[in-house]
This record gives sequence, structure tokens and C-alpha cells, in this order.
Amino acid sequence: MAKVAKAVRGMNDILPEEAHQWQFFERTVQDWLAMYGYRSIRTPIVEHTDLFVRSIGEVTDIVEKEMYSFVDHLNNDRLALRPEGTASCVRAVIEHNLLYEGPQRLSYSGAMFRHERPQKGRYRQFHQVGVEALGYSGPDIDVELIVMCARLWQMLGITGLRLEIGTLGSMESRALHRAKLIKYFEQNVKHLDEDASRRLHTNPLRILDSKNPKMQSVIEQAPRLIDDLDEASRIHFETLQFMLREQDVQFEINLRLVRGLDYYNRTVFEWVTDRLGAQSTVCAGGRYDGLIEQIGGKPAPACGFAMGVERLLALVHQCGKEIMPPIPDAYIVHQGKQAMSFAWKTAELLREAGCQVILHCGGGGFKSQMKKADVSGARYAIIIGDDEALAGEVTLKPLRVATDQTRIDLHAIGDLIKT
Ligand code: HAM
Repeated sequence: MAKVAKAVRGMNDILPEEAHQWQFFERTVQDWLAMYGYRSIRTPIVEHTDLFVRSIGEVTDIVEKEMYSFVDHLNNDRLALRPEGTASCVRAVIEHNLLYEGPQRLSYSGAMFRHERPQKGRYRQFHQVGVEALGYSGPDIDVELIVMCARLWQMLGITGLRLEIGTLGSMESRALHRAKLIKYFEQNVKHLDEDASRRLHTNPLRILDSKNPKMQSVIEQAPRLIDDLDEASRIHFETLQFMLREQDVQFEINLRLVRGLDYYNRTVFEWVTDRLGAQSTVCAGGRYDGLIEQIGGKPAPACGFAMGVERLLALVHQCGKEIMPPIPDAYIVHQGKQAMSFAWKTAELLREAGCQVILHCGGGGFKSQMKKADVSGARYAIIIGDDEALAGEVTLKPLRVATDQTRIDLHAIGDLIKT
């Protein structure tokens, strides 16, 4: 026998029994984005590798270890499957000069790719919905993005998410803090693990993010960025907190919130849950005022976030929300030559009247067809034999309530089913 074909590890099929949950999610997200005036942008899944290296940062886990990058041997281009959407979105905004028309509220959704070790909630192909507000210096837009998230959780029936906010300050205060961190970690180099020692001079901020229990005490005593924060960033952070309180959004300040991508400055935030085990962050983002200029655009501030769809759907389920699959209105069973052509006519007539109809295909007797009608979950079976066809009528049998079947005129049936 031929070898059974298998999907790539960490890349999942979404089967019909879960697909309706995705559709519920997608519909909710569409309504939600429209509520806030965010327009959709679609960018390619493949970009030049260099775009991600320049934006996410050379010394990040994503670029160093997780990116699916390859050489297109047809023209020697170095390409990568997108590991996130912000870089592509900013690239498209610059390339098409969208900021010329003024600030932009944009959103995207789709598959992202990271070669991580797969586990529950962490996949190599996963899906994000991302929201980016470009050309706004905030903090009002930072607050809008956070308030927006809170509303989506409500619309999805998700409870118990914690919001953590932090600030990374300006590029200058980060540089000052970076120098202090390097000095501090150099003095404590014997407490650092291999990963941290390697990052000491390239990305010392990421050492603060280490989960190594042996390094927690040295991390705890490291210089804090908040102590070197520039005045404008301090005001930005305080205004953000003030406005969040005004909007009744609860938050915790996490001064160690680092984020795994280098483009952030000032506001960073994460929505975290205790319900999903290790993969606890369902949505994360922040401000990236330097990125547009960094990849060749005219300097403009920006802020955004992205959420992990798989994690959010798991959470929707954990929160006990039941999302029912669509139920067909009717399943048409038919036997006989004239019955078949009449059954097709009936099905199309009903569909035109807005009903969801499954027309039996594949032959078989009435009894086996009725079993299929029952399994389909349809509310009604519509039974058509040659005598019904001749009379221009159908037999309507309710499948979910104990009511007798009735024989009715074809043209009366649509109204009956829809009520
Ligand atoms: P990120 O923190 O790398 O940020 O990813 C955002 C979210 O995507 C995470 O919080 C998580 O829910 C989900 N996610 C990430 N990796 C995986 C994975 N391997 N499997 C399943 N879900 C995952 C960004 O991507 C930034 N572009 C967010 C942003 C937009 N910042 C500003 N604008």
C-alpha cells in the first residue's frame, strides 16, 4: 500500500467540526473591526527575508531560530514565510504611500509561520488577527487599541483575561538603559546561562525575559528602565494609565514586559490568561514609532497588536461558550425518476427562499435516506416519491418534534419551513 500522506509537524488541519467555531470567530472579528473603523489589508505570505531581519531584529528568537527562510532558486531571492504581520503591513503602507492620505487604521488576519517546538497552543503554522494604527502618536490610540480588545473579549464570551502594560521608553532612554544593563550583567556574568551570555552585548534586554529559575535573582536586581525613562515617555505612560482608568479598564503594570520583537518603544502590553497552561499570552502588542523610518518610510509613529486565533478559540471553549454548527432546514429524500427531477426543483426553490437544504445524492431506499436525514441534524425531511411529483406536492416530516407528517403544495413549503 502507498505510504499515508501526513501534514507537516506543527501545522494543523481545521476540520469541519471545528470550522464553524473559526467562522463564528471571523464573523465576530469582522463586526468588531467595523465598529472601530479599521479597514482590512491583505499582504503576501512570503516576503524578502531582509524585511523581517530589519524589523523584528537580528538577535531575536524569531529571526535567529524560528523563521522559515529559503532561497528561491529560480532567481536566488532570499525569501521567508511571514512569522508575523506588522512588518508586512508597514512595508505595504510605505510601498503604496498610504500615509500620504493621513493616518491609517488597518487590520489583517491569516497564517503566520514560526519554527518553534510544537505544543498545545504553540504551532509552526498559526493564525493571527492583527490591528495596526499608523500615523498616530498616542496615547489616545494606545487606549483605543486596548479598549477595543476588551470589547472583543466580551463579544467572544471570554472572561478572566489579565492586561499587563509596560513602557520601553524612547530610543534614547533604551540606549541608556541598555548600557547600564550590559555593565550590570558583565559584573554578574557568572550567574548568566549560555543563552544570556551570548546575548549580553547584542540584546541584553532579552535576558530580562529569561525563564531560567537560576537567573531570577540576578534579573530581579538588574537596573530598571523606568528609572531611566525620559520625560516625554513618562508622561505618555502616565496618560495611558489615566485614560485606561477613566475607561474602567483594569490593568497591571509589568515593568519587565520585554516582548520578543525589537521594534517596540514606549507602550507595550499583553493580555494573559491562567487557563491555557504555558502558552498564556493570547494577544500582545505595543508602540513602534521607529519602524516605519527603519524600513525606508518617512518617519511616522504607530501602534498595534496581534492575537493568536488558536489560543483565543481554546479560551472561548474553556469559558464555556457553546458555538453551535449551522443546522440545515431540510434534507430532501427522493425515490423515482420523476421524483428526482422534482426534488432538484424543490431544493432550488427552497434555497431561493433563503433555506439551507441538503439534497440527497447517491440513491438508496427511503429508509436509508431517512437515516441520513436524521444524522444531518436537519429540522425537516422533505419526502418526494413519483406520486408527490405528479401532484406537485411534497411530504413534510418534522424530525426534531413529534408531529405528524403532512402533504403540502410545493409553493407553500418555503414559508412553512422558515417559521
Ligand atoms: P507576538 O507576541 O509575537 O507579536 O504574537 C502575537 C500573538 O500571536 C501571541 O500573543 C500569541 O497569542 C500568538 N502566537 C505567537 N506565536 C504563536 C505560535 N507559535 N503558535 C500559536 N500562537 C502564537 C506579534 O506578532 C506582533 N506582530 C504583534 C504586534 C502587532 N505588535 C504591534 N503590532
